[in-house]
Amino acid sequence: MSEKTIDSTLSEQRVFQPPASFSVKARIGSLAEYQKLRAAAAADPAGFWAALARSEIDWHKDFSVALDAGKAPHYAWFTDGVLNVSYNCLDRHLARRADKTAIIFEGENGDTRRLSYADVHRQVCLFANALKAKGIGKGDRVVIYMPMVPEAVVAMQACARIGAIHSVVFGGFSAESLKDRIEDAGATAVITADGGTRGGKVVELKAACDRALAKGCKTVETVIVLKRAGNAVAMQAGRDHWWADTVRGQAEHCDPVWVESEHPLYLLYTSGSTGKPKGIQHASGGYLLGALVTMKWVFDIQDADIFWCTADVGWVTGHSYVAYGPLAAGATLLMYEGAPTVPDAGRFWDICARHKVTIFYTAPTAIRALMKLGEEFPNKYDLSALRLLGTVGEPINPEAWMWYHRVIGKERCPIVDTWWQTETGMIMLAPVPGAVPTKPGSCTLPLPGIDADVVDEQGTSVTDPNQGGQLVIKQPWPSMLRTIWGNEQRYRDTYWAKFSGRYYVAGDTARRDADGYFWIMGRADDVIKVSGHRLGTMEIESALVAHPRVAEAAVVSRPDDIKGEAVFAFVVTKGERPRNDSARALTDELRAWVSQQIGPIAKPDDIRYAENLPKTRSGKIMRRLLRAIARGEPITQDISTLENEDIVKQLQGER
Ligand code: PRX
Repeated sequence: MSEKTIDSTLSEQRVFQPPASFSVKARIGSLAEYQKLRAAAAADPAGFWAALARSEIDWHKDFSVALDAGKAPHYAWFTDGVLNVSYNCLDRHLARRADKTAIIFEGENGDTRRLSYADVHRQVCLFANALKAKGIGKGDRVVIYMPMVPEAVVAMQACARIGAIHSVVFGGFSAESLKDRIEDAGATAVITADGGTRGGKVVELKAACDRALAKGCKTVETVIVLKRAGNAVAMQAGRDHWWADTVRGQAEHCDPVWVESEHPLYLLYTSGSTGKPKGIQHASGGYLLGALVTMKWVFDIQDADIFWCTADVGWVTGHSYVAYGPLAAGATLLMYEGAPTVPDAGRFWDICARHKVTIFYTAPTAIRALMKLGEEFPNKYDLSALRLLGTVGEPINPEAWMWYHRVIGKERCPIVDTWWQTETGMIMLAPVPGAVPTKPGSCTLPLPGIDADVVDEQGTSVTDPNQGGQLVIKQPWPSMLRTIWGNEQRYRDTYWAKFSGRYYVAGDTARRDADGYFWIMGRADDVIKVSGHRLGTMEIESALVAHPRVAEAAVVSRPDDIKGEAVFAFVVTKGERPRNDSARALTDELRAWVSQQIGPIAKPDDIRYAENLPKTRSGKIMRRLLRAIARGEPITQDISTLENEDIVKQLQGER
């Protein structure tokens, strides 16, 4: 994040009290109530979570151990408890809510569907039986590569029902990325669709899946294909099956497979500073509890709410606040497959108005993009059903926050800026909307049971207001990641090594103001956030150097008005340095290449060519220098050690 953004949030003084009309009806309606919960959690963290686990979750067998820290930093929660996550999301609502709408779906071209809890339950049972018929069972890994349609949630829930471990891969990732994830997980089945729709175009998922499987993925025996976009696909006999065929003739009842609380519910791959994406492993009981209590604390979910989280199921937000949290809470959720600008920039607001959405949760990038397109779009629609707004994924600048507050929330809806990560499983820092006053740009305070702090390089709490430091979590929490799939050492090194196992290290820098409010400053590592999507600079560098014309590459970020951050690549080619037309042609080629290697979200926005990259005497790339160049900032680093100072001019694009 740029210095400028840090400065602008530093000078932010506005405070918004929870509207009284909201607080009176809220689950947690006062600061005192929130503080009481936090104090109770701080006094006995394990006891606090155990009591919640008993009141919120239906256990098949109760647990006697709340927290097992014996194998720290592998913490285990409710260890001898036995449950099923899908049972908790579906079956237990059938007595009272069988006919309540669970999912409202809308496609980009306007097709809509409403599925009741009974419908979703039935579909999940049918599909779970179909999976079983293909020999898939407890502990097997199933990769889900699907568009944002209800069947994606059905597939996830069906895996949970039979104890299979799903790993959803975002539909925007390339065949190459899909292959890496299938292989790392050792998946035996892939669930996909012919294609999805976005911006009027068909994203050919099955074709990408075929390319991935053609390159390896030897463990995959079964591919199940949902017909969605209607595009032509090739089906390999024996391996590929249409979804409709697999469920035909299956029983509408499927007993849940009861699993131990620590049984892995899913893997979700995410980028880090080094190496390939890592499979973040979440456990069943603790994760479910985290997703469910935050639906109540942060979203104040009530029976009559229509809850819309715009995240794709390919990201953790689409796990906790589409596929699991809302269903566990017995809520009505909305899913939309398509772009926010089709047919025009009013689409989100049109959907909110038509379906009477009450809680809307999206990313700052979407808010900034829609803000830029003008107020006239939201102003055309009746947004009076909205009562709460949320944001996630990247810092929100005060200007976008204020627009959201004024134009969408009509100064009536609290905004919950929620900080969390793939690894944390649940929202960690966020205002409890009926209780905690908000400040534009701050994710405010930790939720009950979350012991967050900002520490210096020695691990000591930073006590001076507004002094930056490392964001850490000092106590385990139930929905925390359990490990990195197949890479125990990387789990320890990435999250625990920095402070000798004492704290979970989030990888973000943050500061706290005089009121103790948290302000996220950005990543402390080489992860960048483009439109809220998490990308490792090293991954993009590896993709670039895999191109035959690239000798060396370094990737940094620069601020972007809409996307938050943009990808900036410095490239050294084999042979002569390209200029003018040849540089432009190569840039187009490299952008397309990265798209193919990782996915369109990782495409560099800028590429500069130089004869060399600036390195220190020990051979390390001077990233700080590259960042300054990418941002067009004056160079303050000592560059006297560079062999060729002309390189800097080349990197600056001057020669
Ligand atoms: O840098 C923080 C940023 O997103 C990172 C986590 O990314 P991911 O695992 O993809 O999960 C995103 C959705 C939960 C964090 O380390 N981040 C997330 N939420 C916020 C945020 N930065 C500032 N403010 C937020 N509300």
